[in-house]
Amino acid sequence: MTIDPTTLSLEQKAALLSGRDFWTTKPIDDAGVPSIVLTDGPHGIRCQEAGQDHLGIHGSRPATCFPPAVAVGSSWDPDVAARLGAAVGREARAFGVAVVLGPGVNIKRSPLCGRNFEYYSEDPLLSGVLGAAHVNALQAEGPGASVKHFAANNQETERMRVSADVDERTLREIYLPAFERVVRDADPATVMCSYNKVNGVYASHNRWLLTDVLREDWGFRGAVVSDWGAVSDRVAGVLAGMDLEMPGSGGATDAQVVEAVRAGRLDEALVDQSVRRVVALTALPYEPTGNLDVEGHHALARELAAESVVLLKNDGEVLPVRPGTRLAVIGAFATAPRFQGGGSSHINTTRTDLPLEEIRTLAGKRDVTVTHAEGFTVDDEGDADDLRAGAVRTARDADVAVVFAGLGDRQESEGFDRDTLLLPDDQVAVIREVAAVAPRTVVVLSHGGVVSLEGWHDDVDAVVEGFLLGQAGGGALADVLFGVVNPSGHLAETIPLRLEDNPSWLNFPGEQGHVRYGEGVLVGYRYYATAGVPVRYPFGHGLSYTSFATTGLEVEATGDDRAVVRVTVANTGDRAGKHVVQLYVSTDTGPVRRPLRELRAFTKVALGPGETRTVELVLDRRAFAYWDVERGEWVVPAGLYAVQICHNAYEVSAQATITLTGDPVVRELTLDSTVGDWFSHPAVGPVLTERMRTGMTEEHARQAAENPDGLKMVESMPMRQFLAFTNGAIAPDTLEQLMPLSTTPVPAK
Ligand code: BGC
Repeated sequence: MTIDPTTLSLEQKAALLSGRDFWTTKPIDDAGVPSIVLTDGPHGIRCQEAGQDHLGIHGSRPATCFPPAVAVGSSWDPDVAARLGAAVGREARAFGVAVVLGPGVNIKRSPLCGRNFEYYSEDPLLSGVLGAAHVNALQAEGPGASVKHFAANNQETERMRVSADVDERTLREIYLPAFERVVRDADPATVMCSYNKVNGVYASHNRWLLTDVLREDWGFRGAVVSDWGAVSDRVAGVLAGMDLEMPGSGGATDAQVVEAVRAGRLDEALVDQSVRRVVALTALPYEPTGNLDVEGHHALARELAAESVVLLKNDGEVLPVRPGTRLAVIGAFATAPRFQGGGSSHINTTRTDLPLEEIRTLAGKRDVTVTHAEGFTVDDEGDADDLRAGAVRTARDADVAVVFAGLGDRQESEGFDRDTLLLPDDQVAVIREVAAVAPRTVVVLSHGGVVSLEGWHDDVDAVVEGFLLGQAGGGALADVLFGVVNPSGHLAETIPLRLEDNPSWLNFPGEQGHVRYGEGVLVGYRYYATAGVPVRYPFGHGLSYTSFATTGLEVEATGDDRAVVRVTVANTGDRAGKHVVQLYVSTDTGPVRRPLRELRAFTKVALGPGETRTVELVLDRRAFAYWDVERGEWVVPAGLYAVQICHNAYEVSAQATITLTGDPVVRELTLDSTVGDWFSHPAVGPVLTERMRTGMTEEHARQAAENPDGLKMVESMPMRQFLAFTNGAIAPDTLEQLMPLSTTPVPAK
């Protein structure tokens, strides 16, 4: 519904701007405004009835736990995100939920962030495309989404008060674009502001973030909701454009809003604006349907999970498991799987697939015998030596041992960050001892944030990266192990060799209330590839049971600094599979330092054996642009750009170059501009050189001839100082005369 706020009293209006309780808004019966339910999200519905909390402590009604964002990120498939979003939307309808809190599109800045399982990637394009697909599909079912946590919420340590100190170029190029894409492409009903401060100002009352950028630059039309308990100053929040405070404050902050308006400290028009946005949420078509398709959604969860599994290593084609194999299944996660993260996104599942059972079901049809040993416990109960010895005995009698390893709920969760990438010691010992006796060893990993593979990677034949796959993950892993599904996931984040190699390492998680994003735009692969740091597996890596070839790269500049890229993909193996075409752009033109390459487009292609398809990818201006802090806008510098088709962020398989005209810029010169600025200016530089040459005294000409590199030494000196030091090398009125010439636009270089 829409509402004319002038028909409400100031008290009624203020009441609409905060929750009634944990999950609902206040109704205004006189005005016919209903109460609505907002609840988590993102990969399933956490609908609480009795005890209410935002940490996943109390129970909730059973719902399907779909694969969390860490898995969806690895699918590199907007279709997976969309099918998941639509199913979550349908379940929201079943429960009468108006707004589902999610998806989270924050960037994985550090592999230690406890909430990385709830985020897609270290890359903003991948995160934004998947987030937009999720939101579009969810909202097409009726309910609204809440894209979160806006912004720069990249750690759990001190998340409620730390200041993320990030320069504007880095915000615009890395931490904001996923939100921007979701806003522009999917029109989310709400955006959830984060707990933390951004450059010293709480996100919940950061007007630059919530109004200047979100609404004015990007055109956001929905309501901003606070993260649960993120409001520290409600009146400042209304001034900044933060519409709905959740959960409620028992009326305390409503009274502050009323008082501020009466005292003339808050314009009532701003209250009215927020009221309209909050009331608009009540018009979302979320009417309860009462139908939860338990079976259908479980099957869908399995399918989506299998699309997200990443095959990291498969020496000697140990996978898929061949008929007749004696298989030893080892590890606590085979019978007590870890498939979702802890905290506010925790779903009370409708059912849960156990990997061991699912393996037994598929093995039965393939003449594969299965033995099992627990190997280790996740909760440190039991005798580690005994358990390991049992695993070794079981592995010795098998052809292939599959070890299910990973992190438990106590090792990672919302609310805290990890301090190590290592797997627990007892698990590493089991992997190593099993690998020493089993003819072939496969490790299957379940965890939310990246774990180190060092110390055991080279001992094993195959590594299957499952991350967290949702309630049907057990079935999905069995499907991949037996080749029912050909793996097609790719890493959405780098697996480093050492934690210390990560670019945020020196500045994570900050100190004394501040975390400095000192690595700037060089986040994840943008840093590793630029600095040539060896990694275990790069961003974008992922294997298949078939093989693909990419040929015939063509890049066509389509004018206005845009391009169309065509490439032909062939499935050169003997089974159907899916390939991700990854397109990166690389350049060193322009006035700012660019990462070695940046992902600018991707698409996933399904191909039967021997099948070939030509795909077309569009590169718009933003694919070539950087954020120019002086001009406060996106700028495409003139020059040469390489368009690269890559296997992953490190390996280029084909490259073509284009030259772009770039944006004209005005490089206006003053006496504070440097000597270098003056001489390199395309319009002024040549004239100045000529005037200097002809107007030089004999003494100056002799000095210049003796010291041809002299100009280099003074390039960074402001012209004002240069004039003073050189005492007449350039006549000041020459510069005065040339200044107007510098106001004509020139290509950005
Ligand atoms: C989390 C949000 C969540 C909210 C409600 C907060 O603690 O940061 O992601 O949606 O609680 O549970």
